[in-house]
Amino acid sequence: MNLADLNKVAEAMVAPGKGILAADESSGTIKKRFDTIGVESTEDNRRDYRELLFRSRDAMARRISGVILYDETIWQKAKDGTPLVKLIQDAGAIPGIKVDEGTQALPGCPGELVTVGLDKLAERLKKYYDQGARFAKWRAVIDIGRGTPSHTAIYANAHALARYAALCQAAQIVPIVEPEVLMDGDHDIDTCCRVTEWMLKETFQQLYFQRVALEGMVLKPNMAVSGKKCATRAPVAEVAEKTVRLLKNCVPAAVPGIAFLSGGQSDEEATAHLDAMNKIGGLPWKLTFSYGRALQAAPQKAWSGKSQNVAAAQRAFSHRAEMNGLASLGQWKADLEKKAA
Ligand code: 13P
Repeated sequence: MNLADLNKVAEAMVAPGKGILAADESSGTIKKRFDTIGVESTEDNRRDYRELLFRSRDAMARRISGVILYDETIWQKAKDGTPLVKLIQDAGAIPGIKVDEGTQALPGCPGELVTVGLDKLAERLKKYYDQGARFAKWRAVIDIGRGTPSHTAIYANAHALARYAALCQAAQIVPIVEPEVLMDGDHDIDTCCRVTEWMLKETFQQLYFQRVALEGMVLKPNMAVSGKKCATRAPVAEVAEKTVRLLKNCVPAAVPGIAFLSGGQSDEEATAHLDAMNKIGGLPWKLTFSYGRALQAAPQKAWSGKSQNVAAAQRAFSHRAEMNGLASLGQWKADLEKKAA
């Protein structure tokens, strides 16, 4: 492992004013997204859609530091034969790859899941590196329910995240460590804080046990938010204040950056929350975005599978990338959204 080089990549992933595009929806997830816009999920449609994002030159160059790809996409070529990886590199962004293989039921823990994919991961990482990937992603999923999460689920998922991260660094790939506490459910923001703190503490403990170099990773957590079905919704200032406090208590300063997932927040909420945290300032790490839905919902709708809508979809994507880029600097204003509408 060359830690200086890993650190350089990690720093580039959280460069000021930039964030990560999570375009790594699995075949099942992208089908769900396409179903909502009435588009059939064929290999060509998935390619055409992702190609239009990666060809949004201005947004990609100005606001996107890296793109997380799904296995299918990292091998795909654009319509004109250019590898999609090359489109990303030519725009000055770094290609990354989702390497977990989804979740399975955790034995003995009804309703709880553990992320799988460690077997043969070293071999897969080598192939992905040769194909241009310089970072990877592994997502653990923790659900808040009655009596859950269990310690077993927290421990098993944190352990797998740390094993993955160590394998990545050995393969000279920066791991994005993603312990996601879901916002489904009716829990309040303080419950989200407690469970997220538990998961983050366990994750950093396991990263230490697996000898992961913190300077060569990026953390991708959820924010501290109210559950979707909670009767009261914490306002933006409370989300920002509680998330920053939580992270300061759990994330060592050696980690170069934290790139949040959007997790089902609305586009504008995800932007406003990130902006409010950066306006607090005085943080030991960069705080930016690694959004899937909050960057792509608007362009997907604008595109709706029609080639005549490509330019409109690219405008919608560029707008969200610009708004989130500003939020990563604490320079976003709600007025900027209205101006674009
Ligand atoms: P969302 O921003 O849609 O939560 O997706 C981010 C991601 O990569 C989840 O693994």
